[in-house]
Amino acid sequence: MSIQFNQIPAPCYVIDEQLLRRNLGLIKQVRDAASVDILVAFKAFSNWGVFPIFKEYGFGASASSLNEARLAFEELGVRAHTYSPAYEEKTISDILKYSSHISFNSINQLRKYTKVASEKGISLGLRVNPDFSDSPHDIYNPCKPGSRFGITTEQLGERLPQQVEGLHFHTLFEADSFALEKALAAFIEKFGKFLPKLKWVNMGGGHLITKKGYDIQHLVKILNDFRNNHGVKVILEPGSAFTYQTGYLVSTVLDIVENNGIKTAVLDVSFTCHMPDCLEMPYKPVILGATDEVAGKPTYRMGGISCLAGDYMGNWSFDKELKPNDKIIFEDMIHYTTVKTTMFNGVNHPSIGIWSNKSRFRLIKQFNYQDYKNRL
Ligand SMILES: Cc1ncc(COP(=O)(O)O)c(C=O)c1O
Repeated sequence: MSIQFNQIPAPCYVIDEQLLRRNLGLIKQVRDAASVDILVAFKAFSNWGVFPIFKEYGFGASASSLNEARLAFEELGVRAHTYSPAYEEKTISDILKYSSHISFNSINQLRKYTKVASEKGISLGLRVNPDFSDSPHDIYNPCKPGSRFGITTEQLGERLPQQVEGLHFHTLFEADSFALEKALAAFIEKFGKFLPKLKWVNMGGGHLITKKGYDIQHLVKILNDFRNNHGVKVILEPGSAFTYQTGYLVSTVLDIVENNGIKTAVLDVSFTCHMPDCLEMPYKPVILGATDEVAGKPTYRMGGISCLAGDYMGNWSFDKELKPNDKIIFEDMIHYTTVKTTMFNGVNHPSIGIWSNKSRFRLIKQFNYQDYKNRL
């Protein structure tokens, strides 16, 4: 049975447990077939209310801050593989407490924290920059000239610092296995000479394994070949792939306004507050029951509830005229949404819930004035 949207108290992000389990099962299949470690990148999704489901599949976690590392420890029951562009002296010892692996972004940072990390028995890595990316969006390209991410082959030179056990690279964005193949060729060309000294290689995120048409067999072959040829533990840390197309943002039309012949449906949600990637990337999300603009059909912009002039997207066409109280359901609104939202304008945050065929709708979190006040 699919979600009964009339039972969802809007506005609400609603995860479909069946779709989530489908993704988790597929990623587990890759992990087992390729004998690699696959970590959940918390930056994309860290709604710990559904971690009991994740736990059934036994994934590790990748963290980019003390908060994420601590959440991994407390709620997923694992020590994180942590990477941050720089670590602060005031938090490093807590980060180390919750981490099994730590990757440094520069030789300076490695030198600064090698002693304290080694004493705690943590596996040390370096983030390298293979100078390759196929990201179509500059904002998601960590290898753009001038990037602050990762040590270049020139900076690393011929010798790997003694305590380094692993190399980490992250270059891909919503990519297929053929892009990974190219990224690996660039990595091997630039850093392959260090492989005999390494215990692990972390191939970052950006692997959209759960997208329809992703060539899983090709991915498994690449990973197996890499592991067999170089004798290292292979780690992937996708974020999006775990919760890609696993749920919705359910909103309500509050009003319809018109200016210069453009009709806008004003919603109880906001692009800038609740769907920030739509504006940042930018991309136009799919709305259930709507299409891209079709001449002759009722056509609307969707307008956010904030005062930001650019807080709108358009256009979509519908079979019928929209009216207040109609539901607008945005698809694929789980990854990089709840982790990135703001309460700009004091706009209330949509609730978060999960739908399962057995227990129907379960509310995980509802927000109120105290949540707004406590942030400020
Ligand atoms: C270092 C690192 N690892 C993993 C990820 C997760 O990437 P994705 O969600 O595209 O799979 C990111 C995303 O920015 C990242 O910066």
